[in-house]
Amino acid sequence: MWRKASAAALLALAVGYFYHGSPDLPEQLLQYVGLPSLRASPQSDGSLEQVISAAWETLITLPTRQWSKVAVGVNACVDVVVSGVGLLQAMAVDPGAGLDHEVLHSKEDLKESFIHYMERGAAAERFFSDPEAFQRIARAAAEYPGAKLYVGGNAALIGQKLASYPDLMVLLCGPVGPKLHEMLDEQIVVPPESLQETDEFHLILEYKAGEKWGSTQAPQANRFIFSHDVSNGAMSSLETFVASLDEFEPDLVVLSGLHMMEGQGRELWEERLKEAVSAISDIHKDIPIHLELASMTDRDYMNSLMQEQVMPIVSSIGLNEQELLFLSQAGEGPHSELAAWKGVPDVGRVSDILLWILEQHGRSDPSSEADLTRIHFHTLAYHILATVDGYWGNQAAAVMAGARVASTQACGLRSVDPSKVEVKAPLEFHSSHGEPREKLTLNPAAPVTAWRRGNVTFHLTVVLVCKQPLRTVGLGDAISAEGLVYSELKTPQPF
Ligand SMILES: *[C@@H]1O[C@H](CO)[C@@H](O)[C@H](O)[C@H]1NC(C)=O
Repeated sequence: MWRKASAAALLALAVGYFYHGSPDLPEQLLQYVGLPSLRASPQSDGSLEQVISAAWETLITLPTRQWSKVAVGVNACVDVVVSGVGLLQAMAVDPGAGLDHEVLHSKEDLKESFIHYMERGAAAERFFSDPEAFQRIARAAAEYPGAKLYVGGNAALIGQKLASYPDLMVLLCGPVGPKLHEMLDEQIVVPPESLQETDEFHLILEYKAGEKWGSTQAPQANRFIFSHDVSNGAMSSLETFVASLDEFEPDLVVLSGLHMMEGQGRELWEERLKEAVSAISDIHKDIPIHLELASMTDRDYMNSLMQEQVMPIVSSIGLNEQELLFLSQAGEGPHSELAAWKGVPDVGRVSDILLWILEQHGRSDPSSEADLTRIHFHTLAYHILATVDGYWGNQAAAVMAGARVASTQACGLRSVDPSKVEVKAPLEFHSSHGEPREKLTLNPAAPVTAWRRGNVTFHLTVVLVCKQPLRTVGLGDAISAEGLVYSELKTPQPF
């Protein structure tokens, strides 16, 4: 698109040149040629979004050395999205007063908690303790007219994304029931030990803004989520997963679901985390491990994750802005005094925290024992890939590929439609929040800005944010998966 626009500009100039016989042409020409480095006018044919998306198409290329086998584990489930009021009515539950319950023990608890959150328009997630009652509700939900079933769980979602590359062999370990198995891409291999008789259903009860039930009215649209998910909560597939790697011989391992253990209570997770770390340590040292983090609320749990050395025994992590800030707060890192990000997270601050993680828990110093050398950070408006120098290649393409999939998947399209997306990140930012810092700009025609701090290189690209997103669940998983497909592990230089 940009090429077309500049051709038109050149044509106009040439016409002007012949018409006026202007002697200033070379200078004007330079100005036009230099235009993409400034902010392109959104009104012109080459809008900012068009310029960026066209640049992505030419600049995103697969690395020379690609993965051939990727093993993914260990959380997987079926998301059932259904109208909350509709489902409760179909279950012959009458409306009433709201009351929050920490844990749901019955249909009545479910109703009361649902009403409690619906009248506030707030999101919530709860554990349903009674397995039989839960299975009955899950069956009713899955069969409810208009219910939508989706593949859920970070590992399954990452597996699905990887399986869209026909040359990649994907192994998925996790609690896979019959429904999920049917929904998974044919290319995904599930070891028999991972198959189970019943699916882990996650029920997502939606309500619309202004929707009424009895005397309750929702001030805004939101969702109430609940499950009886013991397999994912205990990461019960982890040992099977690690055991199956010997035979599968992957060249990359992707691990997620560690956040699910937090909900089990301190005693259980302390024990299980130790076992998890010991299982992960059994994975052959030459195989890089990517850990996908997800939302956690327990500071002690987050600290254990870092101290009990889950962080240092993985090579790569993927996280969003909430998880990044929480990580810094839990470990008293940079900007941990911030309670929450306001608006688009400041690039300088994000860069400070990323550097701190790689220096404190990573291999930024070659004499460190840690394996962590790569962080793929994603927030709505932009992504950063931070890598310790010498370990990874093709970072610019990888970060752009992740951003492109965020744009297309949120809009439910196969390719970016520049009219349906917008840039929300500033094109000027700083390499750090403190001093020394470098002032940086993003050139839309070559939309990756790179900078170095210590032994770490940062690659940033903006996201073309979908204006009317269809479904944003699993976006982080798709971004990380795509970023990995385009990343290349460098062979360590022999001494
Ligand atoms: C960067 O790497 C050099 C060796 O290549 C090392 O001496 C130095 O300590 C590292 N810097 C940091 C901040 O880890």
